Amino acid sequence: MKKQWSKKDLIYLLELSQEEDIKKLFQYANKIRIQYVGKEVYYRGLIEFSNICNKDCLYCGIRKSNTKVMRYQMEKEEILREALWAYQEQYGSITLQSGEQTNSNYVKFCEDIILEINKKTKHALGITISMGEQEKEIYQKWFNAGASRYLLRIETSNELLYQKIHPQNENHSFQTRLACLRYLKDIGYQVGSGVMIGIPGQTCEDLANDLLFFEREDIDMIGMGPYIEQKDTPLYQQIEKVGYPILRDKQWRFQMSLKMIAIARILLKDVNIAATTALQALDPLGREKALKAGANVLMPIITNEEQRQKYQLYDQKPCINETAAQCKECLQRRVLSIANEIGYGKKGDSTHFLKR
Ligand code: 5AD
Repeated sequence: MKKQWSKKDLIYLLELSQEEDIKKLFQYANKIRIQYVGKEVYYRGLIEFSNICNKDCLYCGIRKSNTKVMRYQMEKEEILREALWAYQEQYGSITLQSGEQTNSNYVKFCEDIILEINKKTKHALGITISMGEQEKEIYQKWFNAGASRYLLRIETSNELLYQKIHPQNENHSFQTRLACLRYLKDIGYQVGSGVMIGIPGQTCEDLANDLLFFEREDIDMIGMGPYIEQKDTPLYQQIEKVGYPILRDKQWRFQMSLKMIAIARILLKDVNIAATTALQALDPLGREKALKAGANVLMPIITNEEQRQKYQLYDQKPCINETAAQCKECLQRRVLSIANEIGYGKKGDSTHFLKR
């Protein structure tokens, strides 16, 4: 078996169009997944603790300029309650996510939460955080408090395309995003990144470059999903104005997302790869299909019912009317339906990271 994959090989795989070939690709990715990271599916309970955001990304529903969103910030007690629920339910880890904020109150608030969760769970719960771009010292502070993993998507590794989907100002620089990923790695986090698939203007070559970017930057965890329309955003309004041809159809975006997961598994082997919620927005069985095509992580939403409705990055977010307990039941059924095991009570660290 070939060890080095060239960009040409990756493009070839991304462009596979025969159902039989695609099926083989997914089966091979599943085999590699079992060989390198086992059959288990790890859970990261997702707590979306605030939708207040300083950023104005042109595709995102909680962008600063979207006045239709009711903003919220959870109380400390609520975040702790949800984190402890995950712990008691044997989720091995949680992910704390919010819009991007940089003020000192927010930084201290997050630090206190991380310390408190670790204290209450005796460090037995993996803590992943996803709080955007920050100064290196702040990443270090949160790491010292006990967060061990960080999610920060590059969105696209094509700098020009990145510029097209972000406002042209210094608060939205591709180079800053990249620098942040490198700070995180220097500090010792398990680093998660990813891209959106099917952004208007994105090509298969861009996607192949994204995969090579993950390899080059030695990323430990991957979270990728389809781009999904959000009606109150400038990107969607542009799509409407120019006409739909600039947007690939849902089936293409969904299928390409599965192919990206499968090829990422084949290329990177021992990383953790999430079956993201956005997949389920395009296909009711989206996450199961991803778990059979190389993904090994699920992020059940545990944000309380009222606030999960207000955290809509894109339209038709699934699970917004469910409770955390219902999400647990539902996902358990889904995972067992495809004969995978759930790594209850395990942190599920990235094997790739542990080997470093
Ligand atoms: N469609 C799909 N994913 C989106 N995200 C934000 N907006 C959208 C959208 N419209 C993703 C981005 C971000 C993550 C938190 O959510 O990739 O990094």
